[in-house]
Amino acid sequence: MGLAKDIESVLYSEEQLHQRVLELGAQLTEEYKDKKEEILLVSVLQGSYIFMADLSRAIDLPVRIDFMSVSSYGSGTRSSGQVEIKKDISLNLEGYHVIIVEDILDSGNTLSYLIELLKVRKPASIKICTLFDKPERRVRPIKADYIGFTVPNAFIVGYGLDYDQHYRNLPYIGILKPEVYGDN
Ligand code: IMP
Ligand code: MG
Repeated sequence: MGLAKDIESVLYSEEQLHQRVLELGAQLTEEYKDKKEEILLVSVLQGSYIFMADLSRAIDLPVRIDFMSVSSYGSGTRSSGQVEIKKDISLNLEGYHVIIVEDILDSGNTLSYLIELLKVRKPASIKICTLFDKPERRVRPIKADYIGFTVPNAFIVGYGLDYDQHYRNLPYIGILKPEVYGDN
């Protein structure tokens, strides 16, 4: 059997994701269209790779694209609180409006670390665009500027989001059956 056997329920269909990403792209286009400096979209790998691909195509302005790779999770479903930079961006951020493109804002450990790191490099501005926000689990005082969906406290997979590196290729967002990850 395929991936669907591990999914308890579908939280957002492909169509719902598509619509919301188009709205976010339109909103960003509107808000950045008169700015002098260019947008730099910084995707936080790996979970945001699909969101980045779709969001960037929904923005009707010149943008640059770059990627960072960080890890804070291991193979469990909970953040360790330790953030490790595995791949940094090489571009000088001065003169760019940085938009961090993230899959999900959960404990906030990853983004509060990243935002401090990037701020020091003096971009023209820096904002966070996250597809999902799970505010119930926050341990750091951090808010996203652009949010696709606010989600309940359940472990979700698909559209780039993984459990133990799997399910990223599910085209929709599903809630994983708890027995799949046990007491992790
Ligand atoms: P934070 O540091 O706890 O905010 O975690 C952020 C990262 O944890 C995200 O970029 C995801 O990669 C991962 N994450 C948090 N919640 C989920 C989830 O429900 N499904 C899949 N990955 C998640
Ligand atoms: Mg992940």
